Amino acid sequence: MNVVVLASGRGSNLRAVLEAVEAGRCGVSVTAVVSDRESAAALELAQARGIDTRVVSPKGYRDRAAWDEALAHLVLSFEPRLVVLAGFMRIVGPSMLAAFPGRIINVHPALLPAFPGMDAPLQAVRARVSLSGCTVHIVDAGVDTGPILAQAAVPILPDDDAESLHARIQRAEHRLLPGVLDAIARGLFELGDTPRFVGPCSSDDAMLAWPPVLPSAP
Ligand code: GRF
Repeated sequence: MNVVVLASGRGSNLRAVLEAVEAGRCGVSVTAVVSDRESAAALELAQARGIDTRVVSPKGYRDRAAWDEALAHLVLSFEPRLVVLAGFMRIVGPSMLAAFPGRIINVHPALLPAFPGMDAPLQAVRARVSLSGCTVHIVDAGVDTGPILAQAAVPILPDDDAESLHARIQRAEHRLLPGVLDAIARGLFELGDTPRFVGPCSSDDAMLAWPPVLPSAP
């Protein structure tokens, strides 16, 4: 299953996907990594593995719509089955959504619908909740509002700040995202408007991740 990954930052989720692919735990092929920022470390990660990289900076376009259209045009040229937002810090617009209906997925560092938007770990620490986690969901026109595919929970410890919580959440992301991609590649998710997991599982299968798509899930 060909995927294009969009990333703006350090790319630890991209690294997790690439390492899972190399280890035979994630049946996808990352055909290109596209960023909105030339300095994104994710680009170097991809280049080191011989993966095609491109930058589509909003600075080069007259407005957001023109940037979104150029991004859609570029990503379409790689003919991916799925587009993965892995730390992509911009909201994709109507051109991207029309080019890949129900086929753009995002990883968010909270148990949506709690704590959408920016600084989700900080929001969770401030709310004094005792569990947070990560969500892989389909991207729609809202901010972190699309249908949820899978979630994994982590505890919030008494001494946590946003940084330590985010580090713990990222360890969960690094297992959840490759697991979900592999499950999609194996046909264990029906995508579309109301995606659902159609793989084998029972309500006893997983305590901290649902559905149990993680390679090491019980
Ligand atoms: C992740 O925590 C992800 O949930 C959020 O942005 C962060 C990206 O981290 N959308 P990285 O660049 O993959 O390390």
